[in-house]
Amino acid sequence: MKHDIYSTEGLYKIVEKTDISETISKHVIFAPLIAAKAKAGHFVILRSREGGERIPVTLVDWSPENGTVTVIIQSIGKSTTEMNAFKQGDSFSDVAGPLGTPVEIKKWGTVLGVGGGVGIAELYPIAKAYKQAGNKIVSILGARNKGLLILEREMAELGEIIVTTDDGSAGKKGLVTDAMNDLYAAGKGPDAIFTIGPIIMMKFVAQASLPHRTPTFASLNPVMLDGTGMCGGCRVEIGGKPKFACVDGPMFDAHQTNFDLLLKRTAAYRGQEKDSLERYAKGHQCRIGLH
Ligand SMILES: Cc1cc2nc3c(=O)[nH]c(=O)nc-3n(C[C@H](O)[C@H](O)[C@H](O)COP(=O)(O)OP(=O)(O)OC[C@H]3O[C@@H](n4cnc5c(N)ncnc54)[C@H](O)[C@@H]3O)c2cc1C
Ligand code: FES
Repeated sequence: MKHDIYSTEGLYKIVEKTDISETISKHVIFAPLIAAKAKAGHFVILRSREGGERIPVTLVDWSPENGTVTVIIQSIGKSTTEMNAFKQGDSFSDVAGPLGTPVEIKKWGTVLGVGGGVGIAELYPIAKAYKQAGNKIVSILGARNKGLLILEREMAELGEIIVTTDDGSAGKKGLVTDAMNDLYAAGKGPDAIFTIGPIIMMKFVAQASLPHRTPTFASLNPVMLDGTGMCGGCRVEIGGKPKFACVDGPMFDAHQTNFDLLLKRTAAYRGQEKDSLERYAKGHQCRIGLH
């Protein structure tokens, strides 16, 4: 299909919406200018309505032909819950992007992707790009339980997958790092690792790969506001130096990342976030992923 990419007709409309787990939905959004420029590792900032909160989410897929971009959103607080309540045909008020520095795609050999929760959605375009560049892909997909496991089929199309769940309801019972240690013990250590998921998970993935000196990269998710390097909100510490995740990242050398500082900074607004979600939940009858 051919689009006038400068036309504003139907801009940011949800052309397809699919609920892929209890709290996670996939949105295919009409945004032709972004679709024309997107690369693996890019993200966008969405607002559900005028005056709404600015929410960064990763571009999972894009189609320059159809003029669409795909994002996968987990309902975690007020704004993401509001977005996942959208139906096909509704529109986001704005979508800014593509933002961030795309991941450098090169031939490593065997690339291990380690994804946790909704991080699996963020891992998918990167694994796909590495596969297209001729790498062998092995993925470890972790979730708290079977219901929170996403994109198993899509990731399996790219290579071997190993599933771990905290409660054993799917795959091996345990943590993604247990599966990583098993690979190393079996002499199947990868040539590079990409990890996306909860900060604590990425910290332990980095610790597990350090003794093996496997180059390891983590996609960092600090609180972002403008997404263009102006506000300083997304400051992270890499190799002892400050970096802005929105422009210098979000993918960084995991062995150089100060994960403890990131954990501390992302927890700073927890009280306000909880109040905001509780106020929203009081006025709405929708599905909310309280974690
Ligand atoms: C580069 C990047 C890519 C991301 N990609 C995805 C994705 O593909 N899918 C997805 O579901 N989530 C993604 N996230 C996380 C997502 O942005 C947050 O879950 C969302 O902002 C939470 O907003 P809320 O109002 O629903 O929750 P809140 O209750 O406001 O916050 C819940 C938690 O989300 C985080 N958060 C809150 N506001 C922001 C913000 N402005 N920027 C970043 N984090 C915030 C904080 O850790 C906070 O504790 C990404 C974050 C970043 C930085
Ligand atoms: S979000 Fe403002 S500097 Fe990165």
